[in-house]
Amino acid sequence: MPTTLLADVDSSVGGKTGIDHPKGKNLIGAFYQPKAVLIDVDLLKTLDKRELINGFAEVIKYGAVLDAGFFAYIEKGYERVLSYDKDALTHIIERSCSIKAEVVKEDEKEAGLRSVLNFGHSLGHAVETLYNYETVKHGEAIAIGMVFAAALSKKMGLCSEETVKRIGNLIKNSGLPSDIPGFTPEQYINAMKLDKKVSEKQIKFVLVKDIGKYEFRKLDFDFILSFLKESSLNENRK
Ligand code: GLY
Repeated sequence: MPTTLLADVDSSVGGKTGIDHPKGKNLIGAFYQPKAVLIDVDLLKTLDKRELINGFAEVIKYGAVLDAGFFAYIEKGYERVLSYDKDALTHIIERSCSIKAEVVKEDEKEAGLRSVLNFGHSLGHAVETLYNYETVKHGEAIAIGMVFAAALSKKMGLCSEETVKRIGNLIKNSGLPSDIPGFTPEQYINAMKLDKKVSEKQIKFVLVKDIGKYEFRKLDFDFILSFLKESSLNENRK
């Protein structure tokens, strides 16, 4: 029985159970499917706005890389969702769960496709690790990670400036953070190397091709480091 929007739309589906380790998030875990999931949308009224917005980051993720129509819906309807409108909340939860269920049905143990759900998570998990899982919430960290992944996708010629803007604007309009916190690029790389799916030199990155379309690429840490350094020169970086 999930009790937060984040759990409603993400962790309640797909059977991933895990615990954090001082060396990294969710490093110890198992797949264990529930017999049923019971979501009570009214429970969300007991959450403060920051917690609701936190869960909304995962909703944005589904639209950004898996469903352009859903992304357009949340671009229009985010204010209703964030003002706890029950119909809007019910719709985004149903849609998010069914998008995730489709992915998990294809690839329960994350042999390939399921890692699309990690869009924004490579840098996002590094942000969480560097903050020692305090200060920043998971959805806030992956919001920062999604903006970074979109900018990286554009840098690699995979998506347009328009796509980067739409993702960034929705994140900012929802009240989620988008700027990379001021740790050094080297700290980010070291934290990313603790992720589950990395080799010494490379990480499997989820990139965006267009709203609703993703691409996996194995990227060298050296390449990500130079992009982080470039981003740190950006005046928007805080
Ligand atoms: N939260 C990502 C997954 O369930 O695979």
